[in-house]
Amino acid sequence: MLGAVPTATAVLAQDAKPELANKLDPNAKEIDEPVLKAATAVKEEDGKYLDKDGHPTFHITNDGKKVDWYTYSGYRRYHAECHVCHGPDGMGSTYAPVLKDSLKRLSYEEFYGILAGGRQNHTAGNESVMPAFGDNKNVMCYANDLYVYLRARAAGAWGRARPGEKEEKPESAKTAEKECLGG
Ligand code: HEC
Repeated sequence: MLGAVPTATAVLAQDAKPELANKLDPNAKEIDEPVLKAATAVKEEDGKYLDKDGHPTFHITNDGKKVDWYTYSGYRRYHAECHVCHGPDGMGSTYAPVLKDSLKRLSYEEFYGILAGGRQNHTAGNESVMPAFGDNKNVMCYANDLYVYLRARAAGAWGRARPGEKEEKPESAKTAEKECLGG
């Protein structure tokens, strides 16, 4: 398996800055207030947004039109690696669960664990398998990106659309990607 479950460092609430607030589409219909609140960024490090527990989160601005780099990247990775089973935009399929709902309840650690280790359900007549992606760099190098995108879907902060406007790819994302894919 690639790496270990990343450990989160709690972020102090007093680090929160007004410019980190999301500026969502005023007409967004699927906002889940508790999920959105828990996902509020209180800290930004080179284009990477962190919630009060130090977990990665999204940052959406310009009335819901612009996303941070990781949400954009997560959207692309999701549609490359996950949507065949989980449906477009995290909407689910007859085979695999609706991830935009799963992420309302799964913690970051649970999400990471399922992604790396997979999961199987053996109810009679309903054999569904979530593959283990622990050895797949095209997935694990982008685990945070996938989490951030799906979290934005769960909060209702991002809808069923391909992100258009996005923040620039951070230098630290370029470095981390190179190290992860090459290592
Ligand atoms: C081959 C089909 C398949 C692919 C590809 C796939 N999954 Fe899954 N996934 C499943 C199935 C089936 C389940 C339900 C397993 C079970 O019943 O325990 C699942 C479950 C999950 C869960 C737990 C959902 C819950 O409600 O508890 C998460 C999270 C998840 N998948 C994330 C992903 C991500 C992210 C990707 C892309 C990197 C992905 N999956 C790709 C089939 C797939």
